[in-house]
Amino acid sequence: MTAELSSIEKAKIVSAWRAAEFVEDGMRVGLGTGSTAAWLVRRLGQMVRDDGLRIRGVPTSTRTADLARAEGIEVISLEQAGWLDLTIDGADEFDGELNLIKGGGGALLQEKIVATASDQMIVIADAAKQVETLGAFALPIEVIPFGWQVTQKLVEELLVSMDVQGRATTLRKSGDAVFVTDEGNHILDLNLGRIGNARKLSLAINQIPGVVENGLFIDICDIVVVGAADGRVTLHDINKGSVVHEDPWPGIGDNLFADLAG
Ligand code: A5P
Repeated sequence: MTAELSSIEKAKIVSAWRAAEFVEDGMRVGLGTGSTAAWLVRRLGQMVRDDGLRIRGVPTSTRTADLARAEGIEVISLEQAGWLDLTIDGADEFDGELNLIKGGGGALLQEKIVATASDQMIVIADAAKQVETLGAFALPIEVIPFGWQVTQKLVEELLVSMDVQGRATTLRKSGDAVFVTDEGNHILDLNLGRIGNARKLSLAINQIPGVVENGLFIDICDIVVVGAADGRVTLHDINKGSVVHEDPWPGIGDNLFADLAG
């Protein structure tokens, strides 16, 4: 008896499988974090085991590292890799310029370092992640635990002079405990509603001493692969200035979802 996958889950699988086609033998690949990226890691594991694909993966979180190893992917550190050919990751929002909000899963710091150290970044997403203007999804910022309350106050003061709709900030929790990132830091979630100038906000937030990094990815992403549950794929390529529809993407097989359903 297999569980039926939701439409969103199917869309995530389609985007992940389509993006896996960008991965070539011998590549050093940044492996993203989150539920969409997990489908990508599983797919790459399958390609390693079944097709003999040889890649080395740099994970963006301990979660992804554990999954990649379990899938039989060779895991190396960013230091060992030196530089990456490609990073594939999920996102919480993307706009028409392929700027992103990331960090819903709390891994934004390693995600940004890894993506920035890559020749190319591909984002995998379902259509619900596409927005006109970033900001409906709360913007995560990673802050060091020392004096985090002061950092929060400084962030809130900064927001008064920024073009944003809302200014409420909250310390992320995991159950009753404060959420701790892989780097031992905390996350403040900024409920901004709408971000008028994401580039300016990103630069300004990072000027505050207790802030380690923010979840705005500006000019980092090259391609967004949007999957749909019926197998359609849309490829947004910022460098080519193109939006290509694959209707349906030829890689979708009749049994794909049935085989993957738990
Ligand atoms: C992890 O910190 C995030 O940046 C994720 O990439 C993002 O939240 C997307 O996650 P899902 O694929 O689970 O929606």
